Amino acid sequence: MLIVKHILTVFFLYFSLTVTAQTPDGRIAIIPEPVSIIPAEGYFTLPSQTVIKTDANAESMEVAAYLKNKLKVTGQPVTISNTASHSAIQLVLLDKEDTELNKEGYRLQVIPGKVTIQANKPAGLFYGVQTLLQLFPKEIESKDEILNIKWQAPCVSITDYPRFEWRGLMFDVARHFFTKEEVKQYIDQMVRYKFNILHLHLTDDEGWRIEIKSYPKLTQVGAWSVKKVGYFGNFTPPAPDEPRTYGGYYTQEDIKELVRYAKERFVNILPEIDVPGHSLAAIASYPELSCTPGADQYKVRSGEKIMDWSHGAPPIALLDNTLCPANEKVYEFLDKVVSEVARLFPFEYIHMGGDECPKNFWEQNDAVKAFAAANNLKNMEEVQGYFEKRLEKIVTSKGKKFMGWDEILEGGLAPGAAVMSWRGMKGGTEAAKMKHEVVMTPTTFAYLDYMQGDPAIEPRIYATLRLSKAYQFEPLPDSVDALYIKGGQGNLWTEQVYNMRHAEYMTWPRAFAISESLWTPRGRKNWDYFFSRVEKHFARFDEAEVKYAPSAYDPIIATSVTPGKQLQIYLSTEVSGLDIYYSFDNSFPDKFYPKYTAALIAPEDAVMLKMITYRGNKPVGRMISYSIKEQQEKLALLKQPKKTP
Ligand code: ACM
Repeated sequence: MLIVKHILTVFFLYFSLTVTAQTPDGRIAIIPEPVSIIPAEGYFTLPSQTVIKTDANAESMEVAAYLKNKLKVTGQPVTISNTASHSAIQLVLLDKEDTELNKEGYRLQVIPGKVTIQANKPAGLFYGVQTLLQLFPKEIESKDEILNIKWQAPCVSITDYPRFEWRGLMFDVARHFFTKEEVKQYIDQMVRYKFNILHLHLTDDEGWRIEIKSYPKLTQVGAWSVKKVGYFGNFTPPAPDEPRTYGGYYTQEDIKELVRYAKERFVNILPEIDVPGHSLAAIASYPELSCTPGADQYKVRSGEKIMDWSHGAPPIALLDNTLCPANEKVYEFLDKVVSEVARLFPFEYIHMGGDECPKNFWEQNDAVKAFAAANNLKNMEEVQGYFEKRLEKIVTSKGKKFMGWDEILEGGLAPGAAVMSWRGMKGGTEAAKMKHEVVMTPTTFAYLDYMQGDPAIEPRIYATLRLSKAYQFEPLPDSVDALYIKGGQGNLWTEQVYNMRHAEYMTWPRAFAISESLWTPRGRKNWDYFFSRVEKHFARFDEAEVKYAPSAYDPIIATSVTPGKQLQIYLSTEVSGLDIYYSFDNSFPDKFYPKYTAALIAPEDAVMLKMITYRGNKPVGRMISYSIKEQQEKLALLKQPKKTP
């Protein structure tokens, strides 16, 4: 105890004498930005033999082991001790609760000879470790041992805790399957940025990804499709006998392993079983779950068109991908599925989907119509409402809380339902006002499947969400009691994401922005300062070999039409301080080309505008080829060929 007091005195003296500046301090680039940073002069240097001292409880020991593992890159010996009288790094669980820190907060103090992390709970120690790692040189993220580096961290005193308790990322492993190892990789990446919930979208039209022992065909049949590439959604339908070898699933042992892996990193996994829509994989496995004749011919979707979205949501289904709400067998099925899911995932919530359920087959179906009449349900929204309420009872009966997408509001919300608001903030706001728990994941700020820049360079999706827009995500609407807004998450849908490298590209850096919206006090957010830190984390990801999108460096392209029917092109950048160089002659511009200063008029026969951004003498953006012809066609500006007399 005396030693602890002595150390605290040293900290106090040190910080009162050497505090120099408030952030931003060029040596420090933490994402998400902590609550309070007080930098000091000097550095802590990792000694040639490091002792990490920690309490003996299992979770603190796990945090110490995590840190030790990360320090392997230094090639220097690191030991963990519960008793050492001298240690370079000390993880301290506080005997007396520090109420400012709550369950996930920490205090990190770095002085020349010592690093101390204090927290009420092991989760706080873990987040303190994440911050400490971000203070070390970027090479700490390398996969190979790095020798001949001074492993230093700037002296600083940090107090930190999250703004929201729900800080999630959703990974859609149904549209394209991602292996257990890839999911672990995703977890490893997200915990660096203090996310604590991984929402796994486990079932959809394209695949059922979790072994359910009472329904083995869900994975024997439901996990497999025909591999296709291109623009998902419009693929040629596979031939009936085409081999179905593409996909995969997690066994229950795999799930247990993932849950354990996540828990060791203070992440809860939220399982989602998406019903009653998005259920083609289940129906292909057990056609009796559908009430549409001919469903026994249905196959797991391989990306062919199955919905008509031209009338908006809900879509018109071209085949019936819904579970039958009028069939008792469906509720038996769901009871058994939820039972198994509830046993596998310790997290208190189960997400049961509920989104985008087409109603056109139900409207035509005699059994559903009779069911609606018998239960006094006025329309098909109320039929879904009935379904959701029964489902909520099933989920609750397994000791879990029921969560669904905001469509579950439409037929009347079940009493204990939690709402994940994706179609903007409206559904979540409404639910919170009705005193329901809410997680905000609005498309406008949090959809990680959207393009991050112009379609001239990004893989085409129907919508765009730039980094700067994601950074504006504010999960708490002004009119709502904060008590009901648990937090938010970014959602990575994977229709157009075929592999892990691209999953990373779509997630980062937008998930940096989302992490900061969920963790950092609102008043401490600042776009320019954020982006300066993002750039330093790009360098860390280069070390870690994690892919990220450099799209924020690329120009934003906008057009208009002059009174003379010429195409006018406006360029700008999300990031300040960049110059844009361009060409209309199809050659590759560099800094010796014209610099963009004002709106451009495309010369008469130009077909392509090429452009690239620079910071000073250094190219930072990618070479973009923008089709003038395509845009002119879109705006109906192309001259009609003269008719021959
Ligand atoms: C959703 O994006 N359909 C929840």
